[in-house]
Amino acid sequence: MNFTDTVLVTGGAGFIGSNFVLSWMENAGTPLLNLDLLTYAGNPANLAALEGDTRHRLVRGDICDGDLVAALLREHRPRAMVHFAAESHVDRSIVAPDAFLRTNIEGTFTLLERAKAYWLGLEESDRRAFRFLHVSTDEVYGSLGTNDPAFCETTAYAPNSPYSASKAASDHLVRAYHHTFGLPTLTTNCSNNYGPFQFPEKLIPLMILHALEGKPLPVYGDGSNVRDWLFVEDHCVAIRTVLERGRPGETYNIGGRSERRNLDVVTTLCDLVDEMQPDPAQGPRRRLITFVKDRPGHDQRYAIDSSKIARELGWTPAETFERGLRRTVRWYLDHLEWVEQIRSGEYLKWIEENYAERLAR
Ligand code: NAD
Ligand code: DAU
Repeated sequence: MNFTDTVLVTGGAGFIGSNFVLSWMENAGTPLLNLDLLTYAGNPANLAALEGDTRHRLVRGDICDGDLVAALLREHRPRAMVHFAAESHVDRSIVAPDAFLRTNIEGTFTLLERAKAYWLGLEESDRRAFRFLHVSTDEVYGSLGTNDPAFCETTAYAPNSPYSASKAASDHLVRAYHHTFGLPTLTTNCSNNYGPFQFPEKLIPLMILHALEGKPLPVYGDGSNVRDWLFVEDHCVAIRTVLERGRPGETYNIGGRSERRNLDVVTTLCDLVDEMQPDPAQGPRRRLITFVKDRPGHDQRYAIDSSKIARELGWTPAETFERGLRRTVRWYLDHLEWVEQIRSGEYLKWIEENYAERLAR
């Protein structure tokens, strides 16, 4: 059996997945099948620009449903799979880890099993060319001290949250399917993304929206935790690059070269919102910053050494943090109807669950 030009993407209605699908259509333009369960984090409105575009098809379904995955592989015969689908929010994994183990571990296992069966049935040359790209996180490496060197591909795994433990398990499964069965896998471990379409439970969009509305800006602990920020478009380019030119069986670290303390990110956001949406009655948004109870097991610092992907594949981030953050604030200001649409009862319930006790401290 031969494969077609189609790429099967999982989780392509989420934050990074939908940015990837949109940029794929703009840059590669070949057919893309999008398998997404449309959980609270998945939103077909992210893909509204593709309405009527027959190259893109969204299938609502679960990556844990092996029969569905097998049927889609049989019908569409993709040349590659790009696997974004996951439960992705650390705080939710602390409150309710079950869904993380199911989707991130069992879901990845199901995809690997069905991909293997499909791949074994391909013609020899297509079997060599097929790729399974697994999108993972820098959180699998654990936490760094202030002067520790950045995470590289050989850093030992030390996941600290149920989220990162489930992603680490999925990385190990991907590695095992390459090592044991020869499945041509690629794994990417990326740092914190930000940009359009990010669900406002994560730091940057949550702070932008709270600042706009004059609500408290809940900074966990003392705000000294450091993340290495990458504009989502740069991540999408990196994934396309690894998909086309990465070496099967390898892992590639992807990072933004933009380490920032949380408190600095939040104050910069306050200043940007003040500048782009002044509200003299409210005064400077910095006054909304509120230090709240810390995240249990909160990793202190993440930093990515992305020299391997730069050296081997020529990828480096194009966007600076300052420009990317400005573009992101602008995007949220221009898309308040998108925000309204996702602020469902489920969202409000989460905000109450995660912040009520913290803010009451
Ligand atoms: P997200 O939570 O915004 O989106 C996840 C998507 O997966 C949603 O569309 C959701 O509906 C879908 N999904 C969830 N469970 C599913 C299931 N069982 N079957 C099918 N679809 C399902 O996540 P994101 O931030 O876009 O992250 C995407 C991937 O990138 C994840 O694997 C995450 O671990 C990884 N990652 C994220 C970041 C980041 O900063 N956001 C950084 C590095 C790596
Ligand atoms: O490093 C990559 C990871 O980045 C991805 O694998 C995850 O999917 C993604 O969610 C992200 O994880 P973080 O936990 O780093 O992101 P989050 O936006 O939840 O938090 C960023 C930092 O901000 C973290 O130190 C916790 C802090 N924080 C977060 C929230 C939501 C606050 O201080 N206040 C908040 O309200």
